[in-house]
Amino acid sequence: MEEKVLIKDLKDLENFTKEFSKKLKGNEVILLEGDLGAGKTTFTKYLLKALGVEEEITSPTFGIMNQYEGKNFDIYHLDMYRINNFDISDIIGKGLIIIEWPKENIDYNYKINVQQLENDNRLFIIQGG
Ligand SMILES: Nc1ncnc2c1ncn2[C@@H]1O[C@H](COP(=O)(O)OP(=O)(O)OP(=O)(O)O)[C@@H](O)[C@H]1O
Ligand SMILES: [Mg+2]
Repeated sequence: MEEKVLIKDLKDLENFTKEFSKKLKGNEVILLEGDLGAGKTTFTKYLLKALGVEEEITSPTFGIMNQYEGKNFDIYHLDMYRINNFDISDIIGKGLIIIEWPKENIDYNYKINVQQLENDNRLFIIQGG
């Protein structure tokens, strides 16, 4: 299944991530694709807020993986931009896994492509679910 969502501002992003968060059980893998600065980390920040994460959410670029405690399950946020290989098999099923710049061969529940349009609009193309 493929869904396209036009996000015009951060309020739209907040509404979209709130709706999306309701689908999640806490054992999914979400891949985030899109150009540098498209809005992958920003999507993650709003999604994690919707899932009840209270601490500040930062880009994991230099730490590879950040772990957060949501209201109902843990969340692992990874950025594979600078990594050749990172084995996620240890964390599969232990929480929600969100991966920016994923490698080709990772099995996923949702693949989200973030595209930056004119006027700071974003198009989110969601596959899976
Ligand atoms: N939906 C949005 N509306 C307005 N501004 C946004 C939106 N999404 C992202 N931005 C802004 O764009 C910039 C880059 O966003 P972000 O860090 O989320 O991109 P990224 O895709 O994670 O980049 P990278 O590839 O470097 O990890 C930030 O300054 C952020 O505030
Ligand atoms: Mg990022």
